[in-house]
Amino acid sequence: MEEIDKEKLPHHIAIIMDGNGRWAKKKFLNRISGHIKGVHAVREVVTACRELGIKVLTLYAFSIENWKRPAEEVNALMDLLKEYLLKEYEEMVQNNIRLNVIGRIEDLPLDVQTTLRETMKKTERCDGMILNLALSYGGRSEILHAVQGITSDLQKGKIKPEEITVQHFPEYLWTHGIPDPDLLIRTSGEFRISNFLLWQIAYTELYVTDTLWPDFDRKELLKAIADFQSRERRFGLTSEQLNGREE
Ligand code: FPP
Repeated sequence: MEEIDKEKLPHHIAIIMDGNGRWAKKKFLNRISGHIKGVHAVREVVTACRELGIKVLTLYAFSIENWKRPAEEVNALMDLLKEYLLKEYEEMVQNNIRLNVIGRIEDLPLDVQTTLRETMKKTERCDGMILNLALSYGGRSEILHAVQGITSDLQKGKIKPEEITVQHFPEYLWTHGIPDPDLLIRTSGEFRISNFLLWQIAYTELYVTDTLWPDFDRKELLKAIADFQSRERRFGLTSEQLNGREE
């Protein structure tokens, strides 16, 4: 088992859960079976993060581009999401996990929207961990949405152009109030960002594993965290500055 330092945990972990289709293909199953097994991995990773004391877990569950997949697969993913929320919300409350959603929630089927809103309401007082689901999400759309919000506030005279700063801008993003991810994990070996959290990952540590999402488990998560802990995050500074050795 990987040794990890409980004092140096990433505050926010974001995950691009990739490889459900490839996992299914390898086993001569249909793609939907891969997503079903993917939900098991979601359950295990959410529980593991909560137990470890991770404060925010963001999962890329459905991108804006995913709407272009065959209707049967899209419908299955929506059903799985709804089923997951209905099955898990009691455990979420017990484990003090608050659900949050980022993305174009209005694109989702109405019954899924209702289940999401109800789960968010039921878990609104939970403060142990935020489970942040990216649904009908795209990083470019999020930035444009923020620009529209800022432009509207400018027109109304609520803010001045000079108040549009690196510190203030994130308040207009869907992730407002949530700190940037410290660690971004991508499963199934591809070195791509796929339009995920484009603004927020400026200084995030990236970790890519060949493991397909349905096979990703607690052990794999600990491996990713151990790897993260072996890195030196300099945020543009020198090593000496960070270690207080700069003259
Ligand atoms: C990527 O695999 C995975 C997705 C597009 C969907 C992720 C969804 C789940 C794990 C289930 C529902 C989520 C929750 C939160 C309950 P892929 O299909 O792109 O795999 P491939 O690249 O191998 O084809």
